[in-house]
Amino acid sequence: MKVFSLDSKDECSKIGANIILDELEKNKNLVLGLATGSTPELMYNYIIDNFKKRNLSFKDVKTFNLDEYVGLKPNYEDQSYRNFMNTCLFNQIDIDKNNTHFPVSYKEINVQNNYDSYDKLIDENGGIDIQILGIGNNGHIAFNEPGSELESKTRLIELTESTIKANSRFFDNINDVPKKAVTMGINSIFNAKKIILLAFGENKREAVEKLINAKSFDKNWPCTSLYNHEDLTILTDIQF
Ligand code: PGA
Repeated sequence: MKVFSLDSKDECSKIGANIILDELEKNKNLVLGLATGSTPELMYNYIIDNFKKRNLSFKDVKTFNLDEYVGLKPNYEDQSYRNFMNTCLFNQIDIDKNNTHFPVSYKEINVQNNYDSYDKLIDENGGIDIQILGIGNNGHIAFNEPGSELESKTRLIELTESTIKANSRFFDNINDVPKKAVTMGINSIFNAKKIILLAFGENKREAVEKLINAKSFDKNWPCTSLYNHEDLTILTDIQF
């Protein structure tokens, strides 16, 4: 694990974007695991601003997003993670949207319990080369909430109260926040060849500290599942 405690979110985001663009330069068929939320937004901006300058193309890149809400009310479709990715990245780069994948459609009505076909699709595409991750105050990664199993795969989950509260800032009323989501599992994430975890702000300190100091997996802090990943880079503005 490499930990970079840098001066600003800006600096972390630039480095994250450059890691992705450097890999894209070497491999035009890159398979990316992508995250939503306020954390990666600036990094996506840097990618948009720089890929053309560097003469790079996303046309052969495939992406797999970590998670998606289930049961969004129709007037909140703009809060879907599909919409977030289209707006913040996909519409502004030359990616083929047919190559951009989510574990479920936010429009899905017939929700299943088992979504491990998503893990199979990732495997069929050669696995994730670089996984971008944020981290929750409670140590969740994607929507793998405390209590998630190390071996978990992509699945339907109930969001915890703390996550619903944290995400209510994007909704008029906390009761409008979906209660369920489909998330890649802890094992699905761990299988990525390279992981870049971004963490900004003091409210993430406890979770990042748990990961940095972990000697084994602690179910109460899902982020600790990454303690022995062989290529994990943490980019943070928290000073340790
Ligand atoms: P945030 O969420 O980027 O909105 O802080 C990160 C997460 O919950 O994984």
